[in-house]
Amino acid sequence: MATSSVKIIRNKKDLRAQVREWHMADLKVGMVPTMGALHHGHLSLIREIQKHVDKVVVSIFVNPKQFGPNEDFDKYPRSETADIKKLDEVDTDLLYAPDVGEIYPEGFLTNVSVAKITEGLCAAKRPGHFDGVTTVVTKLLLQCLPDVALFGEKDFQQYTVLKQLANDLDIPTDVMCGKLIRDDDGLATSSRNVYLSPEERKTALEIPKTLKQAIEDIESGALSMEEALAKGTQHLLDSGCKEVQYLEIRQSDNLDPITTTIAETSPILARILVAAVVGKTRLIDNMPIKIFF
Ligand code: PAJ
Repeated sequence: MATSSVKIIRNKKDLRAQVREWHMADLKVGMVPTMGALHHGHLSLIREIQKHVDKVVVSIFVNPKQFGPNEDFDKYPRSETADIKKLDEVDTDLLYAPDVGEIYPEGFLTNVSVAKITEGLCAAKRPGHFDGVTTVVTKLLLQCLPDVALFGEKDFQQYTVLKQLANDLDIPTDVMCGKLIRDDDGLATSSRNVYLSPEERKTALEIPKTLKQAIEDIESGALSMEEALAKGTQHLLDSGCKEVQYLEIRQSDNLDPITTTIAETSPILARILVAAVVGKTRLIDNMPIKIFF
């Protein structure tokens, strides 16, 4: 680690001091919050935010509050040394890597919760997950006070919730969305892909293929939304997915359901979103779709 050039800070006091110094020098600061196990998706966010700011802070914190009791908090991949190497490769200025006590000191009692858009989709099977995300991201943004924070399109509901959060709470950070990155075979890149056996990976590849097929079926007018979603769900189950937690189409900007009453302008820019379980691994994906009325 002696050759590392990314500065590492583990407490909020030093983080604040560093960001203040940059702001005093009139430098714009960007933040990319992560849980580590960094991959191309994370690195693409760093490269993207570098176009908008002068200094980039990446945080790595595996947030216990956003994992359910039966989820993979304990076995979530942790690889700080490898992560630091990757951060260096993309010229990250600062790694903020607090421990749990720095984020949730003894006596911590507060929960930050966003209503409505945290219901349904990922929330249905992960109760409390978004409260965990919104609580930790509020803390990370307030500890750092970046000018811009970038979140990936891969977690489209999470991005929508966090944009709402920053707006509602007057957090002085511009929340932006970074493009979804895929592996060469089309699977959305994820820290959890390492859990997949080669056989499971083959099944997982049906997830993006199913989204593409549904988009084609709907945009061409061959099938109605309901028919295409039912066909897609069945295809995923037939391909070996253990469970399809949801396959839905929602409005892009607020995640509201699509109804004919909103069809003032056609087409509606929407999102098709999916969560499916392959083996023991829960995978999510989404793509833009146009809905014509
Ligand atoms: P994590 O899963 O590590 O993801 C960190 C950021 O990388 C998120 O904004 C996520 O959407 C983005 N990301 C992950 N895979 C991506 C891909 N294939 N393409 C583009 N972006 C991708 O999401 C979290 O951590 C946590 O919930 C966090 C926001 C850090 C709060 O704890």
